[in-house]
Amino acid sequence: ISLKPFNTFGLEASAQYFVEVNTVEELKDILQNPNFKNLDKLFLGGGSNLLLTKNYEGLVIKIALKGIEKVFEDEKSVHIKAGAGEVWHQFVMFCVEHHYAGIENLSLIPGTVGAAPMQNIGAYGVEIKDVFQELEALNLETLEIETFSLTDCQFGYRESVFKHSLKGKYVITSVTFHLNKVPTFKTAYGDIQKTLAEMNVTALSIKAVSDAVISIRKSKLPDPAEIGNSGSFFKNPEIPIEQYKQILIEYPTLPSYPINESTVKVPAGWLIEQAGWKGFRDGQIGVHARQALVLVNYGGGNGNEIKKLAEKVQESVLDKFGIKLSPEVNYI
Ligand code: EPU
Repeated sequence: ISLKPFNTFGLEASAQYFVEVNTVEELKDILQNPNFKNLDKLFLGGGSNLLLTKNYEGLVIKIALKGIEKVFEDEKSVHIKAGAGEVWHQFVMFCVEHHYAGIENLSLIPGTVGAAPMQNIGAYGVEIKDVFQELEALNLETLEIETFSLTDCQFGYRESVFKHSLKGKYVITSVTFHLNKVPTFKTAYGDIQKTLAEMNVTALSIKAVSDAVISIRKSKLPDPAEIGNSGSFFKNPEIPIEQYKQILIEYPTLPSYPINESTVKVPAGWLIEQAGWKGFRDGQIGVHARQALVLVNYGGGNGNEIKKLAEKVQESVLDKFGIKLSPEVNYI
């Protein structure tokens, strides 16, 4: 079966076996099935954070566990539990419609609810960890569901325990979010305020912030339905403050976000643009013209070409700034 419809890069690659599971029971059944037991397995959410460089020899399991329910409510807050297979943006829209505040800044991020905690998705000053209550995940060894708290998940910038010590050991089956009935708006980041003003918003609302984020993302980020991509290809690097100051001498416009007294985060998109890659195109692949952090497949490109392009970008940023970029997407 072709995996092209199942990865937002739109890359042509096939899976030896493919199955979609709609319930935890189906997931357990498949994992216990003797025919598949010894195969390598790839668990797929929305396919929005992966780079397929070859055909997959093994079983691809698409997690399609659905359902959104309120599991707790008091005067100030609600806990909403969502199945791992819910489409992230649709879940955000559900919360916006019900006036549950907390994830409106995360509107229009591609992918599924279950994939969101894997890399602690974030945008416009909010990360999953800010609204996280708990999650359930299937232990692939015992086939028991286990509950993970905020601390269990060890969230960091685009990081969680599931990318490190527990890599390949669990499948996330649901996530519960702690949302607020009384919103605290986060509009300081980037162009949110400017966009709200352009939209003539006078009274802030959850919907208005969501609309502003949607508008900003649409203006910068290519729609995977039109141009294949995986959002940010690299993470924004954290560098020592001395190195930052050194670069600043030659490049006074370098943007930065302070992390602590000794470290700053700098935008990879800016570094890549300065290294001359913005809008670069080679055949069917390239670097997006409006956001240099996004590598694109115009259609028909393959994963190895993108991998090579990524390496060239990494080399030139390393040459120019002495900064090593690490990919945010997972290479398969
Ligand atoms: N910039 C450039 N040139 C570019 C791109 C960016 O100079 O080609 C500069 C911008 O002018 C700005 C700075 O870099 O000063 C930051 O750019 P932007 O606000 O677009 O955000 P980013 O740091 O490039 C991160 C996340 C995005 C998230 C946005 C908004 C990472 C790796 N990426 O991008 O997340 O949407 O912030 O919060 O942290 C994703 O992870 O897939 C993703 C899209």
